[in-house]
Amino acid sequence: MVCFRLSPVPSSGLILFCLVLGAVQSYALELNLTDSGKATCLYAKWQMNFTIYYATTSNTTESVTISDLGTVTYNGSTCGDDENGPRIAVQFRSGFSWTANFTKAASTYSIDSISFSYNTSDNTTFPDAKDKGVVTFHDRVAVRIPLNEIFRCNSLSTLEDHDVVQNYWNVLVQAFVPNGTVSTKEYLCDKDNTSTTVSPIIHTTVPSPTTIPTPKEKPEIGNYSVSNGNGTCLLATMGLQLNITQDKVSSVININPSTTDFTGSCHSQTALLRLNSSTIKHLDFVFAMKNENRFYLKGVDISMYLANGSVFSIANNNLSYWDAPLGSSYMCNKEQTVSVSGAFQINTFDLRVQPFNVKEGKYSTAEECSADSDLNFLIPVAVGVALGFLIIVVFISYMIGRRKSRTGYQSV
Ligand SMILES: *[C@@H]1O[C@H](CO)[C@@H](O)[C@H](O)[C@H]1NC(C)=O
Ligand SMILES: *[C@@H]1O[C@H](CO)[C@@H](O)[C@H](O)[C@H]1NC(C)=O
Ligand SMILES: *[C@@H]1O[C@H](CO)[C@@H](O)[C@H](O)[C@H]1NC(C)=O
Ligand SMILES: *[C@@H]1O[C@H](CO)[C@@H](O)[C@H](O)[C@H]1NC(C)=O
Ligand SMILES: *[C@@H]1O[C@H](CO)[C@@H](O)[C@H](O)[C@H]1NC(C)=O
Ligand SMILES: *[C@@H]1O[C@H](CO)[C@@H](O)[C@H](O)[C@H]1NC(C)=O
Ligand SMILES: *[C@@H]1O[C@H](CO)[C@@H](O)[C@H](O)[C@H]1NC(C)=O
Ligand SMILES: *[C@@H]1O[C@H](CO)[C@@H](O)[C@H](O)[C@H]1NC(C)=O
Ligand SMILES: *[C@@H]1O[C@H](CO)[C@@H](O)[C@H](O)[C@H]1NC(C)=O
Ligand SMILES: *[C@@H]1O[C@H](CO)[C@@H](O)[C@H](O)[C@H]1NC(C)=O
Ligand SMILES: *[C@@H]1O[C@H](CO)[C@@H](O)[C@H](O)[C@H]1NC(C)=O
Ligand SMILES: *[C@@H]1O[C@H](CO)[C@@H](O)[C@H](O)[C@H]1NC(C)=O
Repeated sequence: MVCFRLSPVPSSGLILFCLVLGAVQSYALELNLTDSGKATCLYAKWQMNFTIYYATTSNTTESVTISDLGTVTYNGSTCGDDENGPRIAVQFRSGFSWTANFTKAASTYSIDSISFSYNTSDNTTFPDAKDKGVVTFHDRVAVRIPLNEIFRCNSLSTLEDHDVVQNYWNVLVQAFVPNGTVSTKEYLCDKDNTSTTVSPIIHTTVPSPTTIPTPKEKPEIGNYSVSNGNGTCLLATMGLQLNITQDKVSSVININPSTTDFTGSCHSQTALLRLNSSTIKHLDFVFAMKNENRFYLKGVDISMYLANGSVFSIANNNLSYWDAPLGSSYMCNKEQTVSVSGAFQINTFDLRVQPFNVKEGKYSTAEECSADSDLNFLIPVAVGVALGFLIIVVFISYMIGRRKSRTGYQSV
């Protein structure tokens, strides 16, 4: 049995995602969701069952198993829109509901989270239940799948929360189906992909307090870009290090560009670069114009999961960093700090950014930060000082040499 640890939802404790061998035939759910133009936007077929534990009035714990879902409705399932991603919503028996929602990034889409709720007031399913009412479990799963590929996982996946065990098998799903044609290219979960020995596709991990990353090393440099109808409209190259200070303790987190997705948007007066990964829900850089001839970094908005499972969110839309003339790019090779708040700052390395007027997908001439130009200014000074020193040394040795040779000459 292989278990993967998933990021816990705050307050719901540790969730284990286990894959176990075995399969039992039962009723499969199938959903072929079409948009207004009758083109398929999401296709899913899967099987699931649940075991729920609950406390009774006599202080015992009872378990209920739901394997026959009965008649299923898919109310609330949607293709999504610009604001919200697609969602599968399923209702069954009395008061049970299950939803999964999806998000999209540059080259991947994710099964973002799964919610499961049931109503313990239903005294035929939950006889003698002590607490009556609707119970909801909300689990972030963050399974990442390449865009335009269908995800398959025939093996059993188990999502285990406090009181609920959710089993899934024979899973087949594709969201963000392009042109209404479900892909034939399958992306297999690790358990199914026998050629795989590497890390599981479940990227989310529960960072435990003992593994708080406190890297001192430089973060890797990432290339990020945003495109609109006219091609690339925003370019950014940078190494990013997040510094979060809570209760006087700072945790420093390097952003790994190879596991970070990026999106964004370009408008005439503003531009947005959004990064996200399994732990970063979003990290937004908002650029704006100043005096119609300069641009600058106006805002940063972050929401991310911390080591203890809580969500850290901060936004500041009144910043003024990375200021350069429109039509050029801003460059700073030295480490620079963007101070978003007392509790959150971003250290940047080898930064180059151009949020407006990108021509042919390339950076325009760079306006360097003062830290870089100080350095450039220091180099000639240092060379000058060294040269001057060398001249003095040469002159002194010459004088000494002359004296010596003169004395030598006289003694002969
Ligand atoms: C749920 O399904 C799995 C896989 O088919 C099976 O091993 C398990 O016994 C089922 N659990 C229940 C309670 O029916
Ligand atoms: C989904 O529905 C559409 C339209 O009804 C149909 O053309 C398509 O073949 C269906 N796809 C699957 C995988 O069932
Ligand atoms: C159940 O446990 C609670 C505390 O855990 C206690 O106060 C209560 O009296 C118990 N009820 C019964 C019926 O045993
Ligand atoms: C789902 O929608 C149908 C009509 O589209 C409705 O008759 C049914 O009551 C709805 N079910 C739920 C659980 O909302
Ligand atoms: C997914 O659904 C949950 C609630 O069911 C919601 O909190 C979350 O924001 C949704 N995620 C997205 C990306 O829509
Ligand atoms: C839960 O079930 C009870 C009894 O069946 C019902 O009265 C109540 O409206 C249900 N709650 C919700 C939120 O559906
Ligand atoms: C279930 O609850 C209803 C009221 O919601 C009550 O009339 C009924 O007697 C209860 N049944 C059992 C078996 O407790
Ligand atoms: C979707 O259709 C457009 C134009 O019809 C085509 O350029 C594009 O390659 C298609 N995409 C896929 C994934 O088939
Ligand atoms: C199986 O895993 C390998 C190694 O990670 C990967 O390159 C390959 O694309 C995977 N195959 C499928 C069908 O997902
Ligand atoms: C970023 O892009 C530049 C220019 O295209 C390239 O030279 C560099 O290797 C890229 N860096 C990374 C980390 O991909
Ligand atoms: C593309 O460029 C043209 C001319 O510069 C402009 O009018 C149009 O709004 C641009 N389109 C987008 C999507 O930015
Ligand atoms: C992180 O922030 C704290 C508080 O602002 C500061 O003392 C510390 O030097 C910073 N660490 C890094 C690596 O930037």
